[in-house]
Amino acid sequence: MSHNVKTLGVLGAGQMGGGIAQVAAMAGLSVKVFDSFPGSIERCKGVHAKSLGKLVEKGKISKDAADAAVGRIGFVDKLENLAGCDWVVEAVVEDVKVKKDLLGKLAAMYPDEGVVLATNTSSISITELATAAGKTAGRVVGMHFFNPVPLMQLVEVIPGLQTSAGVVERTMALATAMGKTPLRANDRAGFISNRVLMPMINEAFYAWMEGVAEPEAIDGIMKLGCNFPMGPLRLADFIGLDTCVHIMNVLAEGLNNDRYRACPLLKQLVIAGRLGDKSGRGVFEYPVK
Ligand code: CAA
Repeated sequence: MSHNVKTLGVLGAGQMGGGIAQVAAMAGLSVKVFDSFPGSIERCKGVHAKSLGKLVEKGKISKDAADAAVGRIGFVDKLENLAGCDWVVEAVVEDVKVKKDLLGKLAAMYPDEGVVLATNTSSISITELATAAGKTAGRVVGMHFFNPVPLMQLVEVIPGLQTSAGVVERTMALATAMGKTPLRANDRAGFISNRVLMPMINEAFYAWMEGVAEPEAIDGIMKLGCNFPMGPLRLADFIGLDTCVHIMNVLAEGLNNDRYRACPLLKQLVIAGRLGDKSGRGVFEYPVK
């Protein structure tokens, strides 16, 4: 089945939205990115320039292809200016209310059911988010990309209870056209990726809290002994410690099981403002960019 997408709308110009926009443009799609947060559009352009520059430097794409990709991405700071897309992916903050509000607005802006409303949520129920589209809930689907989007191979595709079979097939086709490998998971909290990854990260914090080993050793053991590209604590910083806590909360509530409660030390670091790469310090320290 073909995905039938010419223009992709992306909600959110952050780490994930910006990455999704970049890979879509590299795959030849026209892209419109919406973000109303001051400064985010300029920051996103800078991230694109840096990432595409790296890919050119490494011979992964030509300079012409990189320039063409940049030329295919437009930015808007008002949602009503996101008209004319035939598929929209939302990649805004992991907050059910914010996501449902935007999906509801998109459903009203795009009465044509053929326009798929995809969500990049990493753990929130697709079935619940889909209710925001009312009668057209069948066109809402989970399309979960991984950070850094230009380098990570996977798109986790998650149908909600209402999602139509045709929309799932089109999502698989679009992810493939974007150079990714789509794999399907069902709609349970955390899907597969975060159901398996986050408890492991959480356990690394428990091991640190209990003094089983220092952070450098915990990460070194998992890198050298298990061939992880990053240790679990470094990866937690990369993802954002606040996001890790949030995902653990979603797992604990959604799967109804206290074994998914966030480690007290992880929560304490977040309270202290140590959020990881984005705040300059999490488990480890990072130079301010
Ligand atoms: N675009 C282009 N190039 C990039 C890039 C980007 N966005 N990000 C990094 N690179 C480049 C770096 O500049 C670097 O280039 P040089 O070799 O020329 O220096 C190269 O990629 C390798 O990077 P690093 O040297 O920094 O380190 P690395 O070899 O460890 O690779 C990595 C980086 C690909 C991120 C690797 O560490 C990795 O795969 N880590 C695990 C990432 C992961 O697990 N992501 C999933 C997070 S979970 C998630 O996203 C979903 C969720 O729901 C929470």
